[in-house]
Amino acid sequence: MGSDRGLQDSPEWQRLQAHQQRLAGINLRQHFARDPQRAEHMQLEAAGVFLDYSKQCIDAQVMKDLLALAERADLLPWIQRLFAGDAVNHTEGRAAMHMALRANADVMVQGVSVGAEVQEVLKRCCGFADQLRSGDWSGHDGAAIRDVVNIGIGGSDLGPRMVVRALRDRSGPEMHFIANVDGAPLAELLEQLDPKQTLFIITSKTFTTQETMANAQAARAWLVEALGETAVARHFVAVSTNQAAVESFGIDANNMFGFWPWVGGRYSLWSAVGLSIAVAIGSVRFRELLAGAAEMDAHFSIAPLSDNLPVLMGLLAFWNRHFLRMPTQVVAPYAQALEFFPAWLQQLEMESNGKGVDREGRPLAMPATPAIWGDCGTNAQHAFFQMLHQGLERHPVDFVLPSHSDHPLQSQHQMLIANCLAQSAALAFGKNAEVVRAELRAKGMSGEALEQAIPHRCFSGNRPSNTLLIASLTPKHLGALLALYEHRTFVLSVLWQINAFDQWGVELGKQLAGDVLDSLRGQGAVDLDPSTRSLLARVRA
Ligand code: F6P
Repeated sequence: MGSDRGLQDSPEWQRLQAHQQRLAGINLRQHFARDPQRAEHMQLEAAGVFLDYSKQCIDAQVMKDLLALAERADLLPWIQRLFAGDAVNHTEGRAAMHMALRANADVMVQGVSVGAEVQEVLKRCCGFADQLRSGDWSGHDGAAIRDVVNIGIGGSDLGPRMVVRALRDRSGPEMHFIANVDGAPLAELLEQLDPKQTLFIITSKTFTTQETMANAQAARAWLVEALGETAVARHFVAVSTNQAAVESFGIDANNMFGFWPWVGGRYSLWSAVGLSIAVAIGSVRFRELLAGAAEMDAHFSIAPLSDNLPVLMGLLAFWNRHFLRMPTQVVAPYAQALEFFPAWLQQLEMESNGKGVDREGRPLAMPATPAIWGDCGTNAQHAFFQMLHQGLERHPVDFVLPSHSDHPLQSQHQMLIANCLAQSAALAFGKNAEVVRAELRAKGMSGEALEQAIPHRCFSGNRPSNTLLIASLTPKHLGALLALYEHRTFVLSVLWQINAFDQWGVELGKQLAGDVLDSLRGQGAVDLDPSTRSLLARVRA
């Protein structure tokens, strides 16, 4: 299939448009009335992740034509190319083979076998993590490491930060994450740390990222001031693809954990970038995380499109975006431990599919990814759910809910479940004027006051959502959930004919930041635009 425009001209697209018009007058309440078994038909489970999509504004015919559209877009051959290790990231001439990092068999990437190397690095990471956790790796003067600080940003931060938050227990050293070039978080953290008991993991694929290098240099200076230059070897390790830069920073190659150009930053938590995860949860549970993702990979690569969870999630998202014209996608994990999941997903989806041109460089006929945002339930219910329930625009929601939790406050876990299920029901089915009128009458209201109150209390409903259930927040289930979203992103990129694996859109800002910084420091003669010049003058004043 050619460009996005080509897909739009296809008979499948026309049929889906016709479905959109056909269903315009049918709401979810009516869908369920027509088919009371709808919840049983519209569900799918893979790798321990269960999806209920019965509250999506679709019917069987829509699904059939969405699947036909996927075929029209050559989705299956694209999945095969992805798993074959082809250079699907064509603007950088690279494969996108994050699945190789969690595979238990050898894998080819652009014709080269990578299994042995992957296993070798994994073994080193796991060994180092366990040494650190057991106290076998000690600091310069023999003290046990008590605090570990991961310094990295974007994909070198968000994935590990999210997984560590989700799965951490009380074992192992205390983990900290520093990302922002704002020096305040690092300065604040360093005040609390003892250099003798602190280890820094400098995580950067390129080892040139401004934020990471600035924070790493500051951390190094702090340590050297306290313990001397020779202490760096026991207190700094690096995760990178750039050995020369790591060595010139002063980290020995023996203390570097490598990965490969075919691992994209936002897909990298499974590589050595996940070293902080292995340190926080131990090598056994880290390997379980990988195994969960591998299970989802196996499902995605072999399940027929109609029974394929990432494919289904991608198609539903595509329907909501293009046929129901929904501008954003909300994700609401009902587990505080998943509080960083929305931020991870934002980078995954928006850095992958936030593009304006197709693979051939032609402008897309319509915007691709919706904005991704969200927060944990129930907190989010008391913040932005008002708009989801009553705003004029509809925003699809992905509810993510672990059925079990092993903390001692079990009655609160029941409340959490109840709230999650109640929100999706309220969004789907709403509350009409007659019901509101009856409720208000029962409370003794009448006349004009009652009629005036009604519109404010009505819920239109018909607001779509997915509910994703996992049995509990184990490494295995989390691995499968994350891989599900990675593949969903790829499915969407195929439908949009986008290269999901480059990110040229972040470059201009980086370049200009260098120019502005030079100017701020009185070093550059770069001709800045009048607005930036005037703002700089104001900042200086
Ligand atoms: O924001 C751009 C980006 O290149 C991301 O894709 C990446 O995850 C992040 O910067 C960090 O890059 P690095 O790991 O090279 O420091």
